[in-house]
Amino acid sequence: MMRSTTASVIAALLLGCGGSNVYKEPEGPIPFEPTRPDVGSPGTVTPYTGSDPVVLEAQMKLPTGVDLQRKVILRTCGPTNGVCHNQKEYPDLHTTGTFADAINAPCNLQPGTYESVYDRCERVGDSFNFGDKSFPAMELGWYEVIVGAFVEYEDDDIPPVDAAGLHLHFKDPVPLDRSRATWGTGTFLRKFVNAQGQVENLSFANYNTRWWVLEDGRHLYGEVHDYQAEDVEELQKVGIIQGDWNRNGHFGARENKGVPLLNPGKPEESYLVARLRGHMQGEPIPGTRMPLANQPPSVTDMLALMCWLEGLDSNATSWNLASPINYAGCSYSANPQALNLVGAGVTWRERVWPILKSSCGGCHGGTNPQAGLDLLSDGAWTRLRGVSTQNSTLKYIDAGRPEKSYLWLKLAGDGSTIGSRMPLDPLGSGSRSLPADQLDSIQTWILAGALEDG
Ligand code: HEC
Repeated sequence: MMRSTTASVIAALLLGCGGSNVYKEPEGPIPFEPTRPDVGSPGTVTPYTGSDPVVLEAQMKLPTGVDLQRKVILRTCGPTNGVCHNQKEYPDLHTTGTFADAINAPCNLQPGTYESVYDRCERVGDSFNFGDKSFPAMELGWYEVIVGAFVEYEDDDIPPVDAAGLHLHFKDPVPLDRSRATWGTGTFLRKFVNAQGQVENLSFANYNTRWWVLEDGRHLYGEVHDYQAEDVEELQKVGIIQGDWNRNGHFGARENKGVPLLNPGKPEESYLVARLRGHMQGEPIPGTRMPLANQPPSVTDMLALMCWLEGLDSNATSWNLASPINYAGCSYSANPQALNLVGAGVTWRERVWPILKSSCGGCHGGTNPQAGLDLLSDGAWTRLRGVSTQNSTLKYIDAGRPEKSYLWLKLAGDGSTIGSRMPLDPLGSGSRSLPADQLDSIQTWILAGALEDG
């Protein structure tokens, strides 16, 4: 019986099969190309001479991409420092090298859950076809392996939608008999560009089993006997690319222009910026906002990031992070305050909750929030009407009375509370204080009645 996933084919592909595109060492001295585009050597940028204090501060503190990486990126999210320990989704940005690698790199490569994949990060999926020609190669939307005890279905049974086995989901209905099982070999195909520059659809794995068409015809279920479990494991190891990774019915790569982590010349279409803001061009981004559990970037930091991205040459293939950031020529220098991540106006929705979400949400959110206090998900305002776990004589927020509001006391660090001052800061001295303007806002909001709206 033929039933194997062809890992060797992939190996052959990676090794450049046919030998036509074998890498050759350059011979002789590497030629110096004097007309090579200048990606900016230090000193070529005219400094900003205007009067906006934020621009002046950014120019002084964060003159280059190297400073931006060291002083802003590393601080806000250093995955190796353990801050992002419970957030798989963070790309590795902890050195200037890995930061530079994020330019034009695909996003969402390691999502925490499939729901947190953004449509514009989806790539063209692998395709799948079936032994006979009536089943053309179809792009795979998503797949799932449901683990469970093997159940033998009759050919003319219709297995349940969550039957243990291999489930493939397509954009369009598959051309197979819907009333009974079909035996056959399904082949997984990926597009490769060959040495001649032509796009080829090459098979990289196959799986032979009994298949049933479920639901509306776009759901193909493949039986997995115990003896086939290894084949399916192999299949998963190959890393099948799913065109509708987040399973929402939209095939991002087909429907939109994909976006990279950092988009040279286009800060507004950089996934990293969107994750800081929670939206891209007005469209909400799935997943929680970054950075969590640590100090969010200030307006100055954001200005540096946006101006640095805007100034990167979109046609280049490598970028010099030591080049000066062009603040004078940057469109964001006209109104840096618009980059404020924590909003303006002291209201719960515009100001207070954004502060709590970005400075506290990494610990006080998710399935197991610290101290049982969830400040991140919907209903946070209502939960803050309740009493503190650490001090049951006080509510988290007592409208009009900061001195009786346990959450405020934890922020003010007045010594009367149990445990540490918030936010806890595992990177630094153990805990730290929110910036004065944020503390002011929270206090003002409590004094004004801690309203949910208004
Ligand atoms: C790095 C993780 C972390 C961050 C960030 C953090 N907390 Fe906490 N929080 C904890 C832990 C752990 C506890 C329990 C131990 C303690 O109180 O020291 C706690 C306890 C609390 C409590 C007491 C809970 C109760 O029921 O009495 C409050 C209130 C609180 N945090 C508010 C905040 C606020 C507001 C922020 C953001 C400004 C914040 N925390 C940021 C980890 C964190």
